[in-house]
Amino acid sequence: MKTLVTGGAGFIGSHIVCWLRKAGYEVVAADSLRTGRPANLPADIPLYEVDIRDRSGLAELFAAERPQAVVHQAALANVRESMEDPITYAEVNIIGTLHLLELVKEYDCSKFIFASTGGAVYGEGRPPKESRAESDGSGGQAAGSPSLPFTEESRPQPKDNYGANKLSCEHYIELYHQNYGLPYVILRYANVYGPRQDAKGEAGVVAIFSGAMLADQATYITGDGGQQRDFVYVDDVARANILALTSELTGTYNVGTGLPTDINTLYRLLADLTGYGRKPGHLPRPAGEVRATWLDCSKAGKELGWEAEVDLREGLRRTVEWARTAAATA
Ligand SMILES: NC(=O)c1ccc[n+]([C@@H]2O[C@H](COP(=O)([O-])OP(=O)(O)OC[C@H]3O[C@@H](n4cnc5c(N)ncnc54)[C@H](O)[C@@H]3O)[C@@H](O)[C@H]2O)c1
Repeated sequence: MKTLVTGGAGFIGSHIVCWLRKAGYEVVAADSLRTGRPANLPADIPLYEVDIRDRSGLAELFAAERPQAVVHQAALANVRESMEDPITYAEVNIIGTLHLLELVKEYDCSKFIFASTGGAVYGEGRPPKESRAESDGSGGQAAGSPSLPFTEESRPQPKDNYGANKLSCEHYIELYHQNYGLPYVILRYANVYGPRQDAKGEAGVVAIFSGAMLADQATYITGDGGQQRDFVYVDDVARANILALTSELTGTYNVGTGLPTDINTLYRLLADLTGYGRKPGHLPRPAGEVRATWLDCSKAGKELGWEAEVDLREGLRRTVEWARTAAATA
């Protein structure tokens, strides 16, 4: 099956391309190269430099390649930027996705896989009773919020434009399914980390810490470091995409580990792995930042046969190993 991966030169997209290629798929990548890099891709993968806002550019790609399935990873994904520039974010994340959906309909593609976000779509969660006392520094924000971990049934309550963009795309995808029979899988990723993540990306706390620690630079934790996130290794996320593509299912699935890790713990694990001895500085907690989020992924386990296989220590070890090599060869 010929598969188009949008955002294919990016962090997650490039891993999906490699996994698809290994599984014997014919793969084509499309990317504006805003944050993606051609060097992330094997040399034999056709890469179209196209902006998903450019409908005619995408139409030319579809006419030339006639993909049978689309794995849509291309997006602007910086929460802070999405608040500063809501129009560009909506143009890329919503209108760009609609351009693809129209082409997927026109070319009668057999599957549309969409990268959504568990971190930003659900919003603030209420930690379970036993951990609330130590982890809820949300100043009451969590009161009335769905309890953690989030399931696919938890009510989405995005707190930023990026989350609203992704939720809006989810609604459009569901409408294309209802109105035109589009088979789709929406994957709501937790916090993804691993090799090739850009250390400048906002979501990439693992990449940011490990890059700074390996270079023996100062490191900073925002707030008290008690924020909790669900860190999932990129190979597990790529494998979820392959399973989604091969399955007959249509639906929405959380993709995470189901385990919360606070930022102070993550920091200590990475400091151990990199041999970093300096103490972190502290920066003010960004306004509106979600205090705690992690995902119940049992639906993906039951229906897709997917669960995260790489535990945090092993994933961090692989990531630091990669960052060390990348720094030595840069
Ligand atoms: N990294 C995470 O923790 C995480 C969590 C949840 C969801 N996601 C989603 O996963 C997907 C991949 O994210 P990533 O972490 O690999 O980020 P990334 O920035 O590495 O990948 C996004 C890719 O999209 C490309 N792109 C951006 N704007 C484009 C445009 N207008 N036209 C064409 N290409 C464009 C970029 O150049 C980049 O290669 C995104 O949809 C993101 O929202 C990521």
